[in-house]
Amino acid sequence: MAEHADHPAYPVGLRLSGRRVVVVGGGQVAQRRLPTLIAAGADITLVSPSATPAVEAMADAGEIRWERRRYQDGDLADTWYALIASDDDAANDAASAEAERTRTWCVRSDNADVATAWTPATGRSEGVTVAVLSTDAQGRDPRHSAAVRDAIVEGLRDGTLAAPHHRTRPAPGVSLVGGGPGDPDLITVRGRRLLAEADVVIADRLGPRDLLDELPPHVQVIDASKIPYGRFMAQEAINQALIEHARAGKAVVRLKGGDPFVFGRGMEEAQALAAEGIPCTVVPGISSSISVPGAAGIPVTHRGVAHEFTVVSGHVAPDDERSLVDWEAIARLRGTLVLLMAVDKIGAIAKALVAHGKSPDTPVALVQEGTTAAQRRVDATLATVAERAAAEDVRPPAVIVIGDVVAVGTGAAPRPAE
Ligand SMILES: C[S@@+](CC[C@H](N)C(=O)[O-])C[C@H]1O[C@@H](n2cnc3c(N)ncnc32)[C@H](O)[C@@H]1O
Repeated sequence: MAEHADHPAYPVGLRLSGRRVVVVGGGQVAQRRLPTLIAAGADITLVSPSATPAVEAMADAGEIRWERRRYQDGDLADTWYALIASDDDAANDAASAEAERTRTWCVRSDNADVATAWTPATGRSEGVTVAVLSTDAQGRDPRHSAAVRDAIVEGLRDGTLAAPHHRTRPAPGVSLVGGGPGDPDLITVRGRRLLAEADVVIADRLGPRDLLDELPPHVQVIDASKIPYGRFMAQEAINQALIEHARAGKAVVRLKGGDPFVFGRGMEEAQALAAEGIPCTVVPGISSSISVPGAAGIPVTHRGVAHEFTVVSGHVAPDDERSLVDWEAIARLRGTLVLLMAVDKIGAIAKALVAHGKSPDTPVALVQEGTTAAQRRVDATLATVAERAAAEDVRPPAVIVIGDVVAVGTGAAPRPAE
């Protein structure tokens, strides 16, 4: 109302659990606002002749009560809070008038000036609710509110923003964090926040090493490959280092390439920590097995081309007695084959696949250092891959993709069947 316009809004957090809330109109505004009202535990009645499919689904699920009709006077009886968002101006005005009469706080999507309440731009991160209301000379400025909200929530999530005097001490223990394939943007939000809170980071050679540059100077960064192992195996020495730093009360992040549980020995570390009673959190990561082909334009599945993909470690040759892979069975599969750690043995692997019946013309792509600035792709077939890999000097880390999906992005793939 005009006489109130000069005063700033008074911010408040409504505790709506079990309290009647009425929403007038079942369109896009209701669809956006309802999930938060449902999450707040409000007892919600929607009054609207129609609703979007998403809103209808909330009614079907029993999350809201839906009265399929137009607004009528008296609908706001016993209501604590009303959201008026229909496309019927007369109904909006009438509902708004009833709210004023009955002292019901009321948000209006069509006319913020006459509303008695405004919805702030909100977001949540780790138990903090951020609510932003900005105003300019014209009144509310929802775009600016949303932009400020996004900046704050993102900062809280990735750990770049924290109240200096209230920075929560992360619990001592170890987080096994999947760092993604290499591009620093491809770590999860949770992984990035844990990194920002760490006292000690034990990192592999693979993975997003650029992220380590961002860490504050007090953080101790340890290169896992340089941990002296003396009488231990290298992996055991890493486990010991994790245990020792966690026992010293430090927040430890074990930063691994890709996903910790895809050829990452993550479970060995989790088990070693469990055996010592040290808390361990596992944060999944984007595995190179899917993301590196994708970054090179190769989908691991494609409709009508591949209905399965199989990820295989190629670190031992097919005739090596330590191999656990049934190459004969693998050769019979029609889908995509993704090989990790296979650059050295690709000649022997290609030979075994052809010997077991795969066509020598099967397309192959080697993608080296995927998702990084140094990414490159070399194309071949099973018949030529050993020679091509040598001629092009392909080096680890590389993901090798075998199958018709390799040709999909190049337009040379077979036409989709079903
Ligand atoms: C020990 S495995 C670890 C895999 C990892 N846990 C994952 O989920 O991506 C290492 C292998 O992953 C593949 N790899 C990891 N990052 C890669 C990248 N950026 N480009 C190409 N291959 C990569 C290579 O095959 C490399 O030899």
